[in-house]
Amino acid sequence: MVLQKDIEKAAEMIRQGKVVAFPTETVYGLGANALDPVAVARIFELKERPSFDPLIVHVAQKTDISQLINIQDERVWKLTDHFWPGPLTLVLPKSELVPGIVTSGLKTVGLRMPDHEVALSMIKMSGCPVAAPSANKFGQLSPTKAAHVRKQLQGVDFILDGGPTRVGIESTIITLHDEGFEILRHGVITQRQLEKVVPCAVQSTHQKTHTLAPGMLKSHYSPAIPIYIAGENMPKIRDISQAALLSYSGENTQGYKYVKIISPKGDLKTYAAELFSVLHELEDMNVDFIVAEPVPEKGIGIAIMDKLRKAAYRYAK
Ligand code: TXA
Ligand code: MG
Repeated sequence: MVLQKDIEKAAEMIRQGKVVAFPTETVYGLGANALDPVAVARIFELKERPSFDPLIVHVAQKTDISQLINIQDERVWKLTDHFWPGPLTLVLPKSELVPGIVTSGLKTVGLRMPDHEVALSMIKMSGCPVAAPSANKFGQLSPTKAAHVRKQLQGVDFILDGGPTRVGIESTIITLHDEGFEILRHGVITQRQLEKVVPCAVQSTHQKTHTLAPGMLKSHYSPAIPIYIAGENMPKIRDISQAALLSYSGENTQGYKYVKIISPKGDLKTYAAELFSVLHELEDMNVDFIVAEPVPEKGIGIAIMDKLRKAAYRYAK
């Protein structure tokens, strides 16, 4: 149970220009007043995040984005009506009100209304839009529990503990082009779901710049010990007796020191919800490395494999 007085405290701290970790339905965020460049600068500092990586601005009501954007496009309202509150971030042309530090100097801003009572109530009470990246050190595992935030970010002013997050992986990020929408980061809201609301998924024809979502960096979300994907970057001769297996099918589990099956029924939603939490657990378990069995790459499986490959990237063969 989250205490009302803790939500009030978090909101008050945000009003005062402090940085607060708070729960959303996806992962914990590290939030500050999006309209206060000095407060936002502290987020970058605490996270050790490069200044070229822009932040998502969180709002408590759909209409709150009107003052933050500079675009007339009915697709925006179709998407917000359908998916908000929820794990969808829209990258849209920004208004003058949004400070450059939030968007890393880009002319667009990422916006999202989280589907979490505690987050919504904190944002509403703070009276301002809240800029927040995931509450982890840059490049490391994302936090789905308050304890994960504590582990990585000792300097944070306050952690609002709302228990484990429900969705477990970050929001789907899209941007709009004349011809259709472009997925910048995969999440639990899939291309098929989006295409039922607005036409249609396209690949950007524009030159890619540093505007990319970290979803697009090759390495991200990494545990502190090596992680390999079976059949992909797994070195040939490795003794698995001191390794942990992150199993999907429950097969070929012999020989590992530790085996974790996230969803015995093979449910990808459950897998996504538990993925980061399990990786945090394995990271702390005194094993030499983790081997992850690939999951089917469809629906939410696309986002899951995306996270696993990025986690494994720096531990290539
Ligand atoms: O579920 C989520 O999205 C979580 C919760 C806390 O809301 N937040 C999150 O934030 O994952 P973060 O900062 O870890 O990842 C958001 C990414 C940024 O790294 C950035 O690359 C991309 O969103 N992004 C933000 N604004 C952008 C923009 N204007 N253009 C392109 N990408 C943008
Ligand atoms: Mg992140």
